[in-house]
Amino acid sequence: MTGTTAPAARPANPRFSSGPCAKRPGWTLDALSDAPLGRSHRAKVGKTKLAQAIEDTRTVLGVPADYRIGIVPGSDTGAVEMAMWSLLGERPVDMLAWESFGAGWVTDAVKQLKLSDARVLEAPYGEIVDFATVDFDRDVVFTWNGTTSGVRVPNGDAIPADRKGLTICDATSAAFAQDLPYDKLDVVTFSWQKVLGGEGAHGVLILSPRAVERLLTYKPAWPLPKIFRLTSGGKLIEGIFKGETINTPSMLCVEDYLDALGWAKSIGGLDALKARADKNLAVIARFVEANDWIGFLAKSADIRSNTSVCLQFTAPEIVGLSKDEQDAFAKGVASKLEKEGVALDIGAYRDAPPGLRIWAGATVEASDLEALMPWIAHAYEAQKATLAQAA
Ligand SMILES: Cc1ncc(COP(=O)(O)O)c(C=O)c1O
Repeated sequence: MTGTTAPAARPANPRFSSGPCAKRPGWTLDALSDAPLGRSHRAKVGKTKLAQAIEDTRTVLGVPADYRIGIVPGSDTGAVEMAMWSLLGERPVDMLAWESFGAGWVTDAVKQLKLSDARVLEAPYGEIVDFATVDFDRDVVFTWNGTTSGVRVPNGDAIPADRKGLTICDATSAAFAQDLPYDKLDVVTFSWQKVLGGEGAHGVLILSPRAVERLLTYKPAWPLPKIFRLTSGGKLIEGIFKGETINTPSMLCVEDYLDALGWAKSIGGLDALKARADKNLAVIARFVEANDWIGFLAKSADIRSNTSVCLQFTAPEIVGLSKDEQDAFAKGVASKLEKEGVALDIGAYRDAPPGLRIWAGATVEASDLEALMPWIAHAYEAQKATLAQAA
């Protein structure tokens, strides 16, 4: 790289991808040595591991005792769609979207389920919908933390306790890093490869008693594939919430999730996980504060994510470029950092505004982010020099 002198220190771990995210500190393949490979997941050893994963999820996240937790196929997408296909259609729905994953759930509701009374409330990248405009007597589907725009819902205060509709919340990049108000959420979903850095494969579906009530009293008009079915003969399939999965899980991934949960417990549980993510965000915030050429995509600090941190180049000479040129500039910076081996996979998501997206969840070490920041400045200067040469 040309431009400023290269920083002396490098991140010990350059993995800042927003999913799969960095493994927990100290992770090696040995963490998986107790996986019951080649055994049936329905044998005692398999069922015990799956039940343990559910129990540890409840402990670490503080999920209320009367909420059900199931391990389901299809990662977070599987869990969200299973909930949408099983629960929606009983009443009108408000679909909230502020980035591409929320937009995907809108497509599901409008174009796939073709719900007749779906109201779509959208906010641009960097903002969220004003919850005062949402009608919680309708069902409401939303994403807690917008992974591709770096925003999060600050709290559940605007969600009424006595709502008539169900709240279906995709919390995949929020769970284990942010507070989730379970009393305000009827469905919470996430996958393992995000804040805990587990192996990707399975989704987790958390259901409130009201969501279960809906399952028992309402039958959707559309057919449900076996992989989505949570009831049988009008009864809840309770086994799903005890570790009897609908189809075959990867016991290797289950072992890895158990290891991640064990690490979470060993460092102090949810509070410690949140504190790590907050500390990581603070490292980036200090850097942004000190440099006027870079800024958060989320303009307001109260909705700024502490996991998927999205940044934009804000200097007039960059903002003045066309969208394609800005995109090429940001990609150039990310690629320089990757070539140097100091940051892997930190380009903005393909549908998001040009910039960088740095994962700051609990498995990332603040010291690695400290080391990365000067490299971003260095790569930025080098990319500007490339621009000047081309002009
Ligand atoms: C907010 C959000 N929802 C859904 C998904 C899809 O998750 P999965 O790949 O686990 O299905 C992601 C993945 O990054 C996400 O960030």
